Amino acid sequence: MTTEIEHAPDTGAGAKVPLIEFKDVGKQYGNIIALKGINLRVHAGEVTCVLGDNGAGKSTLIKTMAGLHQPSEGEVRVDGEVTHLTSPKDALSKGIATVYQDLAVVGLMPVWRNFFLGQELRKGLIKSLDVQAMRATTKEELFKMGIDLPDVDAPISSLSGGQRQCVAIARAIFFGARVLILDEPTAALGVKQSGMVLRYITAAKEQGFGVVFITHNPHHAYMVGDHFVLLNRGRQKMDCTYDEISLDDLTQQMAGGDELETLTHELRR
Ligand SMILES: Nc1ncnc2c1ncn2[C@@H]1O[C@H](COP(=O)(O)OP(=O)(O)O)[C@@H](O)[C@H]1O
Ligand SMILES: [Mg+2]
Repeated sequence: MTTEIEHAPDTGAGAKVPLIEFKDVGKQYGNIIALKGINLRVHAGEVTCVLGDNGAGKSTLIKTMAGLHQPSEGEVRVDGEVTHLTSPKDALSKGIATVYQDLAVVGLMPVWRNFFLGQELRKGLIKSLDVQAMRATTKEELFKMGIDLPDVDAPISSLSGGQRQCVAIARAIFFGARVLILDEPTAALGVKQSGMVLRYITAAKEQGFGVVFITHNPHHAYMVGDHFVLLNRGRQKMDCTYDEISLDDLTQQMAGGDELETLTHELRR
C-alpha cells in the first residue's frame, strides 16, 4: 500500500518536494468560515506542529488533509501534484494516515487483534486467521519503534494511554503511511505518558515520516517540532521554524500574547 515518490518534479535550487502542500486553502461550513488562507508544507523527516486554541480550526485542517472534508477554496498538492483527496481511504492509499484522539480500539481484544483490525492476515485455502504471523508482526513493528511489549496477547485496554497511542501510530505506519497526522495525541495524557508519545513522534520523524502534530501545548510542540503553524479563528497567525522562535515566544503567541500578560497583571495584582 506504500506509494512511491516517483520522478519528483524539479522545483529548482535542490528544493525538496513536500509530501503535502496547502496553497491558500479555505473551508466554509455554510456561512461559517472555519479556515481561510492556509499555506503549509509537510516534509519527510520533519514534524510540523499545528497549534491553536479551541475553535481555531485545527480539526478542520486535519480533516481536509485526511480526505474527510474537501476544501472550499485553494489547492492541495501531494508530492507536488494537485490532488483531490476524496475520502480517508483515498488519502490512505496516497500514504496519508490520521490517528484520531478516540483511537477506535476494541478494549477487550488483544493488542495484535487491534493492530490488524479490519486488515487481518489470513492463510491457507480456507483463509483462516494467521494468528502467529499477526502476533509476531505486531511485536516486531512495535519493537522497531522502541516499544518492547512483553505480551501482545494482553487486551489493549490493559495498556497505558501512551502505549495505546503508540500502537495506533505503529499500525498506521505498517499499513503504508508516509504522512502521520496526529490529533492531540498527548491531550489526555500525564507527563510520563506524553513523554512516551513524544519519543515515538521523534522516532517516526527520524525514520523519514512526515508528522503533523496537532496540539495546544506549546511545550510539547517545542520538544519535537521542526516547524510551527499557529491557527487563530481559522487564520494562520504564524508559520516559522524551530530556529526562528523560542519556547517563550511560542507560548506567548499561543496564549494570545498581550491578552495573557494583561490577565497575569490582573490576577497577580
Ligand atoms: N461540521 C461543522 N459544521 C459547522 N461548523 C463547524 C463544523 N466543524 C467545525 N465547525 C466550526 O469551525 C470552527 C473551527 O472548528 P475546529 O476545526 O473543530 O477547531 P479546533 O479543532 O481547533 O477546536 C469552529 O467555529 C467550529 O464551530
Ligand atoms: Mg479539534
